[in-house]
Amino acid sequence: MCGIIGIASNKPVSINIINSLKKLEYRGYDSAGLATLNKSEINEKKCSGRVEELEKILFKSPSDGNLGIGHVRWATHGIPNLVNAHPHSSEVVSVVHNGIIENSDEIKKKLELKGLKFKSQTDTEVITLLITESLKDNEPLESVFNTLKQLKGSFALGIIFKNHKDIIIGARRGSPLAVGYSNEENYLGSDSYALKSMTNKISYLDDGDLCILSKDKVEFYNVNKKKTNKKVYTLSDDENVSDKGDYKNFMSKEIFEQSTTVKNCINEYVDSLKKDINIYNFSIKPEKINKIFLIGCGTAYHSCLVAKYWFEELTTIDVEIDIASEFRYRKLKFNPDNLYIFVSQSGETADTAAALDICKKNNVKTCSVVNVVESTIARNSDWVLPIHAGPEIGVASTKTFLGQMLVLYILCLKLAKSRKDINDTIYQTNIKNLKALPDAIKESLKVENSVQAMAKEFLDAKGSMFLGRGLSFPIALEGALKLKELSYLHAEGYPAGEMKHGPLALIEEGLPVVVIAPKDKYFEKTLSNMQEVIARGGKILFITDHKKELVNENIRFGIRVPSLDNLLSPILLTIPIQLLAYHVALLKGCDIDKPRNLAKSVTVE
Ligand code: AGP
Repeated sequence: MCGIIGIASNKPVSINIINSLKKLEYRGYDSAGLATLNKSEINEKKCSGRVEELEKILFKSPSDGNLGIGHVRWATHGIPNLVNAHPHSSEVVSVVHNGIIENSDEIKKKLELKGLKFKSQTDTEVITLLITESLKDNEPLESVFNTLKQLKGSFALGIIFKNHKDIIIGARRGSPLAVGYSNEENYLGSDSYALKSMTNKISYLDDGDLCILSKDKVEFYNVNKKKTNKKVYTLSDDENVSDKGDYKNFMSKEIFEQSTTVKNCINEYVDSLKKDINIYNFSIKPEKINKIFLIGCGTAYHSCLVAKYWFEELTTIDVEIDIASEFRYRKLKFNPDNLYIFVSQSGETADTAAALDICKKNNVKTCSVVNVVESTIARNSDWVLPIHAGPEIGVASTKTFLGQMLVLYILCLKLAKSRKDINDTIYQTNIKNLKALPDAIKESLKVENSVQAMAKEFLDAKGSMFLGRGLSFPIALEGALKLKELSYLHAEGYPAGEMKHGPLALIEEGLPVVVIAPKDKYFEKTLSNMQEVIARGGKILFITDHKKELVNENIRFGIRVPSLDNLLSPILLTIPIQLLAYHVALLKGCDIDKPRNLAKSVTVE
């Protein structure tokens, strides 16, 4: 999941390439590079690490040229270093790539037998050398088509040619690619976000498409080499939201704006006058739904897990959940009366997009819950439910997790009512509770000081555990995921009742164990599970919405969030676990918005 950019203009492009790469860094930050065409020479600049470094290099030695490509890398083939940084250039061509070429070893061997030499360990360099070979007898377009025929795997490519200084060729299979239009300038980018500061007019390449862009023209070709036209979308104007304001980093801004983003989302879906949820465009009749599948990855998967409990509680629909990378390889029996729901912040996650494609091929109804409404997953699903959280820049999902849970809850309520699984009184009570949620979130955020103190307990720990039951079990999983990805401390999320079946062996004197125990039907049982941990020396950090004063000398810290309604407890209990991961990472001096080895949008399998 690297990020690529290309600009064809009538003025120098390197500064705009750098600015766009900064936006694309959420896709990878192992290395950065660009290549511009300067008096028919390919001028390549690269660095390992962040775009900031590349900017410094350019400052010392500027690159001119009115046409160029750029790249930020999330390493797949080859370690993150300077040699493996993109672009990968030969004498005549320069290539940036997002994706994985699965048969690169095979191609490499063939090319080496012909006497060609490789400089890097990347899979991308085979593309550079295949195009270089083909250019000996062909024009650029034919050379790229010839090359693509030989590749297995996924790619989004940006390619420039030393002897054709007006054009950039873009190509897509699997990995996303967008084209942007402006006056005397056209762009190629991994997503619309990278192009937004330059244009709001965007088209998207479909799988197998190729495009040739120059400063005043863009042509598209489909997989059969036939010219095609593309729909031009006008992007919404939410640029101002991508600013961290007075916050130290995007993650803290995104945590603290959750009461606003949740309010915005509720306003989009709840009609206060009619006291109703305005979701009407069902792609399948609610009463006809036999089963719902909820599919996502990482945090998005955790929101599916929360929703499963809600659907079971409020509807008579059977629910199955799956991690997208597992779902896509299962031998499933697709049923036209099932609804397949895909949850993804970015809407570009490769595994989730592939799982959606499989459903489409099997002609079943699909719905997506996304933050980026222009994304591949949103465009490819029958029906889209946006979460209206605004751009999320921090790699760790925070406000979009709340948004995903919220939209799934709203959908669940609407389906329950439409199918008459719940009566009007229950429906109205739940809508009323929903409207109280933004203020309860604001209140919950006040636990920050206590959480900050609690975070110190993790500094010398060699691991940690998060326990919950029922609706709090997915929050335990999310708590462990947040802590792992931000502070690099090992953490396990577990159903509290499952500890005695193995994980209890991990408990030793002083191990921090976060127990998430709202006032629900599991409360007393969770307390018993907690006692089992205490008896083995675990250090308990207790998070609840129960008003009862808990007197237990073995609880090192207690955090209380407001109590609203049992069903909504996962949303409020998420706030302390987000803040906890944030403060542990801050104390450990970790890079909060860009944790090591990760990227915001995971566009490789
Ligand atoms: C969690 O903080 C991560 N950002 C990650 O688990 C993420 O939720 C996952 O990669 C799925 O991304 P998506 O929502 O964009 O599909």
